[in-house]
Amino acid sequence: MSLTQRETKPVKIAKPFNNESIEKAVISVLRSGMLVQGQFVKQFETNLSEYIGCRYVIAVNSGTAALQTGIATIKKFRGLPKNAVPEVVTTPLSFAATANAAVGSGCLPVFADVDEETFNIDPEKVKEKIGPNTIAIEPVDVYGLPADLDSIRIAGKDKIPIVEDAAEAIGASYKGKKIGNVAKISCFSTYATKNLHTCEGGFVTTNDEALASEMRMVRNQGQASRYNQATLGFNFRMQEINAVIGLEQLKVLDELNAKRMKNALVIKESLSSLECLGFQEVHNPKEHAWYLFSLTLDERKAGMPRDKLVQRLKEQGIEADIAWPTPIHLQPYYREKFGFKEGDFPVSEKICKMVFQIPIQPFLTDDEIQRMISAMKSILV
Ligand SMILES: Cc1ncc(COP(=O)(O)O)c(C=O)c1O
Repeated sequence: MSLTQRETKPVKIAKPFNNESIEKAVISVLRSGMLVQGQFVKQFETNLSEYIGCRYVIAVNSGTAALQTGIATIKKFRGLPKNAVPEVVTTPLSFAATANAAVGSGCLPVFADVDEETFNIDPEKVKEKIGPNTIAIEPVDVYGLPADLDSIRIAGKDKIPIVEDAAEAIGASYKGKKIGNVAKISCFSTYATKNLHTCEGGFVTTNDEALASEMRMVRNQGQASRYNQATLGFNFRMQEINAVIGLEQLKVLDELNAKRMKNALVIKESLSSLECLGFQEVHNPKEHAWYLFSLTLDERKAGMPRDKLVQRLKEQGIEADIAWPTPIHLQPYYREKFGFKEGDFPVSEKICKMVFQIPIQPFLTDDEIQRMISAMKSILV
């Protein structure tokens, strides 16, 4: 391979982990004839609960299914009067799945704006949105940085359960406790690009036995036992292939997350002299899962639009990205269905105009990191 060819090889933003053990495990599942929610799913749940330190883990087939399972369960337990519309207080600065899961569970999404520094939901704004029909608060651990769960709990006066969207936060912690062992229910995604992946997949965690038993039914058509449906449920079952992949990934999760953190800190340090850049505020880097490394661009100081910077990085083979260019309330569906408009959540709107990501995935080489830093500096000087 020539030098030019090597230089143009893209610096990937995500590189799903794979090895020989995973490939062998997948083949052995295929040959076993037991393909869905069998011994490997059970083992994956057990190993996750040991890793997180929580009592119950229920594996499902996506992060969205995890959120729907959690919200549907809380909704049932809350038992509002029949004609009351249940409300879920959540953030507009997220992937659509966060609010879609609330809507899909028959709830009204009630947005509360985010904190300008951490990009996570602002507990003070949450407080203003709590009403008699609030059944849950659904914060997101944005880019892997845990939301301020204690302040959110206090905002709900200790009465409103937190159904945490921890889709991006596997391996993160909050005040020394692993995410998944703090909120009433935490919902994770194990989608292909996540820190731990199972191709598609997800899981819910809780320490509450009654919630766990309901959630197990929700994931399997509401069945309490075979062909005996006790509650409303769906097919959210995880496949055995996904679980064996997850089991192997769990063995290296901490090591890979540590590499993500190291990469993020090296890049941040190298770029911190560029005045046009800002960074997601992280008080304790060790508690962040570092799913995505997010920066903001002050376009005036940079003399360049954010989108142009991302475009220039891509032209140089750096897979920069924008998550998310539009807050959920300004997505066409949410504007039309709920009447949201520009200006409703100004902090989220501002961040969506400034934010972008550059790769920190654990398989980056030192060369790739230096290439990325040089590219950023040469574009932004
Ligand atoms: C914040 C957030 N919530 C929810 C989801 C949904 O997860 P999944 O794609 O596994 O359904 C994602 C995944 O991308 C996410 O990033």
